[in-house]
Amino acid sequence: MILMLFMIVLVTACTKEPLKIGFSVGDFSSDRWSQEPQIFQDEATALGAEVLFEYAYGDANQQVEQVKKLIASGIQVLIIFPTNADNWAPIVEEAHKAGITVIAYERMLKNADIDYYFSFFNKDVGKQQAEYAVNLRPKGNYILLGGPTSDYNSLLFMQGQKDVLKPYVEKGDINIVLEKHLATWNSIDAYNEIQSFMENNKIKVDDILAANDELAGGSIMALEMLQDSIDMVITGQDASVGGCQNILNGKQSMTVYKSIRNLAREAAQTSVKLARGENIDNATNMVSNGTKDIPAMLLKTVVVDKNNLRETVIADGFLKEDQLNFNP
Ligand code: BGC
Repeated sequence: MILMLFMIVLVTACTKEPLKIGFSVGDFSSDRWSQEPQIFQDEATALGAEVLFEYAYGDANQQVEQVKKLIASGIQVLIIFPTNADNWAPIVEEAHKAGITVIAYERMLKNADIDYYFSFFNKDVGKQQAEYAVNLRPKGNYILLGGPTSDYNSLLFMQGQKDVLKPYVEKGDINIVLEKHLATWNSIDAYNEIQSFMENNKIKVDDILAANDELAGGSIMALEMLQDSIDMVITGQDASVGGCQNILNGKQSMTVYKSIRNLAREAAQTSVKLARGENIDNATNMVSNGTKDIPAMLLKTVVVDKNNLRETVIADGFLKEDQLNFNP
């Protein structure tokens, strides 16, 4: 009898489907993407799942093809970090037909019937940037420099900024002299934009609300080419090595730190549960993607400047002390 029970347990264990998660990485548009897939994989592997990765390097069509390949490879969960937010509905439907749970990672997939969204409170990022800036300069000329509109987060960041600036603009204290979504997240686009704006408009700019550290870095490079010193509040996001160093050098004012380790780990833990067919209890927010409210697991973001850099990104182990020069 015992032997028979043992055999039954053994057979069930052996015939159980292996846990497989597909992860489609859309681009490498900032430092974080070179670490995040690895953190996700380490966590998921430790929990007994296999992760299949595909990298699209910013090519939206290629990403779709790669996702189709993942759908056909026996996965239970599909994670998509999209390089473009649009045109996902038919692919998500295809995944659902194959019984796969579909999750948007960091960036939303618009108007598609996805199951979950794992990310940060992205509108708060823009709010934190603008609050930091108005605190230092409640009056003046502001530039809003956003990422590409193909990334839905770009719109959220700028919306958050504008919500904070609205009363100041209405009072006439703040003048938005340029509001621009760049074509890409590349610093070179920010460089070109700021260079041409400053050359064509001989006005004093007080703040550049750059959406992330890449765009802040490009703006700083352009300003350094044109001016002897920079007297401006410049914001950023991601707590990248370059962004944090610019803060320590006194060129960038702040960055918004997103713990990508917490996001990647929690996303991995939750995905493994979903792959096992278990219930999850951490997707407690609801975020609209245009046609549907998506249950979302959202993490908080932290304002970092020269005063708390050590207590945040360093203490957290996100960046190591020796990656930065604290006495430039
Ligand atoms: C992310 C940012 C990142 C940017 C460029 C956005 O979707 O939210 O953290 O800096 O993409 O990769």
